[in-house]
Amino acid sequence: MMVPAVQKKLIDIVSSVVKGTKNMIDPMMGSATTLVASMENGLNCYGQDINPLAVLISKVRTGPFLVEGAKQQAMHLMKRIESDKNDKIEKEFKGINKWFKPVTQQELSKIVRGIREEENLNVRRFFWVVLAETVRVSSNDRTSTFKLHIRPEDEIDRRVFSAIDVFALHLDKTLEDYEAHTVLLANSGQLVQESYRAEVHIRIEDSKASIYCPTKEPFYDLLVTSPPYGDNKTTVTYGQYSYLPLQWIDLNDIDAKATEDFLRTTLEIDSRSLGGKLTEIDSEKVDELCKQSPSFLRTRKAIEKVNDSLVKKVDAFLLDLNQTIANIFEVMKPNSYQIWTVGNRRVGGIEIPNAAIITELIEKNRESWCQQWNGK
Ligand SMILES: C[S@@+](CC[C@H](N)C(=O)[O-])C[C@H]1O[C@@H](n2cnc3c(N)ncnc32)[C@H](O)[C@@H]1O
Repeated sequence: MMVPAVQKKLIDIVSSVVKGTKNMIDPMMGSATTLVASMENGLNCYGQDINPLAVLISKVRTGPFLVEGAKQQAMHLMKRIESDKNDKIEKEFKGINKWFKPVTQQELSKIVRGIREEENLNVRRFFWVVLAETVRVSSNDRTSTFKLHIRPEDEIDRRVFSAIDVFALHLDKTLEDYEAHTVLLANSGQLVQESYRAEVHIRIEDSKASIYCPTKEPFYDLLVTSPPYGDNKTTVTYGQYSYLPLQWIDLNDIDAKATEDFLRTTLEIDSRSLGGKLTEIDSEKVDELCKQSPSFLRTRKAIEKVNDSLVKKVDAFLLDLNQTIANIFEVMKPNSYQIWTVGNRRVGGIEIPNAAIITELIEKNRESWCQQWNGK
């Protein structure tokens, strides 16, 4: 999760200085840090992400904020879990026995059954978030990286813990965080009863396919986002990180679009993310990209010299990102603002100057957007 100190300041400045700033979007919102910063300014907030776990966390972080309800129901939930004598395993998926000990599967199943009995969807979502972290640390995954790596067998045997105790601990901690987060928004005058006073909409959406827009005309005054800095498979594997938690969560509680297809393999979410499909590279579009961004052309040539096969990775990612930028311009109002947080990375020892490349791509997209707009 990003610590949005600089972004928050920029959002504060744009919101207060640019009159009429109302609607913001983050098309790669992760866990909604930019949305929360924008909520403190009372903006209408729209967020989307390809990863169902990001969408679940974002929905919880943007309300409704049922702190008292969650606290009360947490006590009932723990009672249900502790008195559950059923040993049935609630989930079935490939690799369940590799990633979870039998006793952990039983305990996680008791938690799942307990959560399912909670009537309020928003409280259930809060509990699923707590379960997500519980699953991650209770699995046989090494957890030291975002990638899934099995622990050595002797280490798995030596680890003795109760997933229910882990859940109870996380439940207390997450309730505290939830309350502090809610107090912050309430103190900035943004809550009416237990809900955000303006609009907030969170969706599962592939931003290289489309950016949600509630009107036919351009709608957004402000974009605040931080894209991945390369394809997920070789940078941060957000999808692999989410794979085991999502297996234990009832996906229909997240969103109607959160289907089992996302969990076809451990790599599915990462391959749907920007740069995830190396087989779909259109060489004409790569040539076009080289014309749009001199920094990209230079970097591509340098990588080609070192290792020709690595070029595909950079091509796939930047083509997808450029498509996303084009989609973004479709929904931004004239004179709107965009705040991008980007990071450079290395491929084959060569630095990819993402900051320079993305700046050039945005500038080119802005130019063609201006031409189109003036023509209307
Ligand atoms: C650097 S993270 C954003 C982190 C976020 N600012 C936060 O603080 O939590 C990039 C996000 O882009 C998302 N993403 C990658 N490809 C995407 C796509 N095609 N459509 C929408 N989101 C995508 C990833 O799932 C990830 O959550």
